Amino acid sequence: MGYTDNYERDAYGIVAFWLRSNLEHGQFFDREISHYELELARANQSMVQSLEGIWRRAEEKQGDFAILINESQQAVSEFRNFLTLGMNKALHCEVIVSTPVSLMDHMIREAEESQKVFGLIQSGGQVLVADSVIHESTFWLRQMADHLAFVQHYLDPSYYELQDKVRGMTQKFERLFLQANALRTIVRKPRPEMLPALNVFRQMVINEAKDLEAFKLKLDALIKQCAAITTAPRNMLEHLAREAHHLWRNLEEGIIA
Ligand SMILES: [Fe+2]
Ligand SMILES: [Fe+2]
Repeated sequence: MGYTDNYERDAYGIVAFWLRSNLEHGQFFDREISHYELELARANQSMVQSLEGIWRRAEEKQGDFAILINESQQAVSEFRNFLTLGMNKALHCEVIVSTPVSLMDHMIREAEESQKVFGLIQSGGQVLVADSVIHESTFWLRQMADHLAFVQHYLDPSYYELQDKVRGMTQKFERLFLQANALRTIVRKPRPEMLPALNVFRQMVINEAKDLEAFKLKLDALIKQCAAITTAPRNMLEHLAREAHHLWRNLEEGIIA
C-alpha cells in the first residue's frame, strides 16, 4: 500500500493530508479547464503552486508549526473562494469547464472541512468521541457516495457490469449517509457517551470504508497499468482511497482530523 507509506497522523501529517487533498483537486481541475479559459487556468495554477510549496514543508515537518498552519489556512481559504467563484460562474453558464458542478461543490466542501480541522488544531479544542463519530460520518459518507458517482462518470460506458456495480455501491453509501444524518438528530447533543447503537453504526462504517478503500486501490492499479478504460486523472483513485482510509482511521480513533 504505497500511498499510506507517508501518511502520518501527527499534527504535521494531518495538515499534510489536507494540503495534499486540496493540491490534487487543483491538479485534477487543471485538466478540465477549457483552453478558452486562460485566466481561470492561470489562477488555478498559481493556487496549486502555493499549496504544493506548503504541502512539501508539512511533509518534511519543516519550520514553525504555527506559521505553517496559518499559511495553510490562508492558501486553502483562497482556493476555496476561487472554486466557489468558478462554481458560481458554471451555474451562470459563464465558464467552459468539463468538471460537473457537484464535483466542484465536493472540492469546496473538502476545502471547508480542511479549514475546520486546521481551526480545531489551532485552538486545541477537544471533541467528544460521539460528536466526532457523528461529524466524521455525516461529512465523509456523502463524500464517499460522491466518489463512487464520480468514478462512474469517468468510467467508460462500455463497462456495463462495472457501471452497475459502482451504481450499487453509490446507493449503499447514500443509504449510510442518510442513516448518519438520522443519527445526528436521534442521538442529540450533549453526547457524553457512546451509545451502543452509535457504536454498531461506527463499526459498520469502518468495515464499509475499508472495503471501499480496497476497491479503489484495485481500480487504481488497473488505471496505472492502463488496463481500465477511463478518463479519470491517473492518480484520482489513489486520492479517493486515501480519503476512505482517513475516514475509517478517524472513526477508529474517535477524533475529528
Ligand atoms: Fe478529495
Ligand atoms: Fe473527496
